Parts: sequence; C-alpha cells; structure tokens
Amino acid sequence: MKKLTVILAAVAMAGCFTAKKVTPSQTDVDRMTAKFPGYTLAELNEGKTLYEANCGSCHALAKPTSEPESEWRRIVPDMVRKVNKNGMVLDNAKEERILKYLITMSGR
Ligand code: HEC
Repeated sequence: MKKLTVILAAVAMAGCFTAKKVTPSQTDVDRMTAKFPGYTLAELNEGKTLYEANCGSCHALAKPTSEPESEWRRIVPDMVRKVNKNGMVLDNAKEERILKYLITMSGR
C-alpha cells in the first residue's frame, strides 16, 4: 500500500518534473556569496551529486527551479527524514549541501 501511495504521488507530481539538466557554475556561486558566505563551486557540485544520488529513488528528481527557497527549506528536512528512515544516510552537513544546491539553482 505504501509503495502504491508513493507511485501515485510520483504520477501526480509528474507535471513538476522535467529531465532538463542545469550545470552549476561559478556565476551561481557568486550570486549567493551574501547569503552563503564562503560557499564554493565544489560544495555546490557536491550538493548536486548528493541530491541526484538520494532524492530520485521514490519519485523523479524535481527541478531546483520548481520551488522557491521558502519551499525548499520546508521540503528538504522532510525528505531527508524519508531518506534516513532505515538508517542515517544524509547527516546535517549533507542535508545542508543539498538544501544550498536547491536554493542556489532555484534562483527564487
Ligand atoms: C522514501 C521515498 C522518498 C525519498 C527517498 C524522497 N522522497 Fe520526496 N517525496 C516522497 C513522497 C511520498 C512525496 C509525496 C509528499 C509527501 O509524502 O510528503 C514526496 C514529495 C516530494 C516533493 C513535492 C513536495 C511538495 O510539498 O510539493 C519534492 C519537491 C520532493 N519530494 C523532494 C525530495 C528531495 C529533495 C529528496 C531528497 C532529500 C526526496 N524528495 C527524497 C518520497 C520520497
């Protein structure tokens, strides 16, 4: 039943997802220096890798632009809890990498 719920949720959300890939660049990092002092392109790319490795197993990966910062701040802790349900996969540092990546590439 749980599996079915997940599948239904994924289908319902399909409209929000696309396969288009956006490559993070130094320009994106520079845009965020006021908000994330000391942020680096390596950290941004690490967030992207962690996001793609951990957030696409139950549903398609949402485009970072699909949500504004306020929504990512609400959604990511919730979803990290799902990822960690059967054992710690994403610690606080990794969660922060994912959140910063999504906020940076959201652009809103
Ligand atoms: C264990 C399965 C699972 C994993 C892993 C998972 N999700 Fe989800 N996700 C769901 C389900 C189920 C929903 C439907 C809404 C809900 O239950 O909160 C959802 C909904 C979403 C939504 C839409 C939510 C909204 O409020 O509009 C986004 C965006 C999302 N997930 C992002 C992520 C991110 C980011 C990660 C990785 C940190 C992730 N998901 C990992 C199961 C998962």
